[in-house]
Amino acid sequence: MADTPLAQLAADASACTRCRLAGHRTQVVFGVGDPGADLMFVGEGPGREEDLRGEPFVGRSGQLLDRLMAEELGIGRDRCYIANVVKCRPPDNRDPLPDEIELCRPFLTRQIELVRPSVVVTLGNFAMRLLLGTTDGIRSVRGRVYPFGDAHLVPTYHPAAALRGGGTVVAEMRSDLVRAKRLLGWAT
Ligand code: URA
Repeated sequence: MADTPLAQLAADASACTRCRLAGHRTQVVFGVGDPGADLMFVGEGPGREEDLRGEPFVGRSGQLLDRLMAEELGIGRDRCYIANVVKCRPPDNRDPLPDEIELCRPFLTRQIELVRPSVVVTLGNFAMRLLLGTTDGIRSVRGRVYPFGDAHLVPTYHPAAALRGGGTVVAEMRSDLVRAKRLLGWAT
């Protein structure tokens, strides 16, 4: 028996066979970081590196996320919580399918309830659309803060988009993180 509700949820997820992604995974990538964090990042789904290591955002996208977190927020991943919309790697890094997202959603919903962050930063379209309940695209949605239960939601690009899109996208991501920093009361 796991010793906290979040650890129990992780144990439940590790045995999940609700969708076809279970048949492709090396392991479930549940989440990482401070279980009581004020700041939570939500990405899309594990890639190859994450599937092998069992931790979100440990590949190239994760390196960029770590760098932006350090430079704009002055924190490492131990000071926030990081999770994904789907907990298992989609084959060949394809997009997660609507039924996979819906079947995995209860895990993310419960993770957010248990961590109780005051700011959620969504990374890319999948997390933003799921949590805001919109079909709009990240370009038109980012740049603002959205109410999210008792918390605030700050949508930003997926770091993979920043790796592809270069300087302008990275600069916009930085300004989104500064927005989150202000909401957290971490700005000096
Ligand atoms: N991309 C994601 O959305 N999540 C990860 O964990 C890694 C890459």
